[in-house]
Amino acid sequence: MITPTELDLTDATAFVRHDAHTFWRDVRKHRPVYWHEGDPGFWVVARHADVLSCYADVRSLSSARGTVLDVLLSGGDSAGGKMLAVTDRPRHRELRNLMLRAFSPRVLGAVEERVRERTSRLIRTVARQGEFDFAAAVAEHIPMNTICDLLSIPEADRKKLLRWNKLALSSDDAESDRLDSLEARNEIIGYFMDLARHRRRDPGDDVISMIATAEAGGRPLTLEEAALNCYSLVLGGDESSRVSAICAVKTFAEHPAQWRALREGTAAVDTAVEEVLRWATPARHFARTATRDMLIGGRQVRAGDIVTLWNISANNDEEVFDQPRRFDPARSPNKHLSFGHGPHFCVGAFLGRAELCALLSALTESVAEIEVCGEPAPVYSNFLNGYASLPVAFR
Ligand code: HEM
Repeated sequence: MITPTELDLTDATAFVRHDAHTFWRDVRKHRPVYWHEGDPGFWVVARHADVLSCYADVRSLSSARGTVLDVLLSGGDSAGGKMLAVTDRPRHRELRNLMLRAFSPRVLGAVEERVRERTSRLIRTVARQGEFDFAAAVAEHIPMNTICDLLSIPEADRKKLLRWNKLALSSDDAESDRLDSLEARNEIIGYFMDLARHRRRDPGDDVISMIATAEAGGRPLTLEEAALNCYSLVLGGDESSRVSAICAVKTFAEHPAQWRALREGTAAVDTAVEEVLRWATPARHFARTATRDMLIGGRQVRAGDIVTLWNISANNDEEVFDQPRRFDPARSPNKHLSFGHGPHFCVGAFLGRAELCALLSALTESVAEIEVCGEPAPVYSNFLNGYASLPVAFR
């Protein structure tokens, strides 16, 4: 057993070297809320009930200094108060209302249709290929193109955005450092500043034009605010969906009986999507800063303390999920926290679900058996959970 004091949660390789689920099971049982030493240290919240109530308590727990542990430890997020995810009420509500216009049924209906077509075309192509890397051949193309369609990003720019995006919050390379991430983020923001400036002058019928010309709280967004909020869509829209798709394929390959159940219709695609999201838990944690003294799970938290909410643990809490380490595509209800909870609940949840639904539907139509043919490469991150490559063969 690894004790909480032995595992450094700031280390991007911690869960590549240690079994996460054994660790979190012990934490939930013995120290469900604990103080992680460091400079600065931070609180670790592991139980589903506590994580849920922390997400809901936006009065005591602020997002404005940042919501990712690494960012908070390195001094906070410079986008605080400007970008949706790192803004508190009342500005958060104004920005969220604006951003939700990007996700109107009219816009989403068209995007969903394109997701289905693209996914089914990709799967039909790779199904004939023999062995291939599912991440490079399929998973990288679906979410990034979906979000780029939504934002009308020119085809020629999509590859470089994907490259920057992979570096921005995590790394496929254990040696990569924080400076690479910072540079990648600056590149993306600079790119969107240019695009927002251009579309403000010459608006079209796309989401960047809408964000660049819209008002929130009675004034137009600044160019920087517009760029940051476009960035948050690309960032949120690409990575989590990409690793979920990779996890879906890997998990069904490892669970052939469940794959048969899905193909034969004993398990529905909708419940399978939710179970994949729980199993994948693409964002291991999100974080907050306490704005006042408070109790979490009976522990005294002080104003100014960093509080980390571990979705990966909450999604496997035996108090909420019967046999949590059983992959059950028919599981219902499935109260996973992969999209968070409360006022910051993921604005892209509909799209994330639609992408997985399109993937599982296309796979059940063309693929009888999935075989993993080599060692998948992990993502090195204490935030993003999943794999960067997955060698497979479809039959
Ligand atoms: C927020 C996860 C897909 C954009 C969140 C949060 C989580 C999450 C856990 C809450 C963060 C917090 O409370 O601090 C996921 C997962 C996805 C996914 C697991 C896919 C499987 C998407 C997509 C988009 C997106 C497709 C954009 C198209 C956002 C944005 C926020 C957010 C902008 C901030 C919302 C706010 O603060 O009000 N996401 N997301 N996400 N997500 Fe997603």
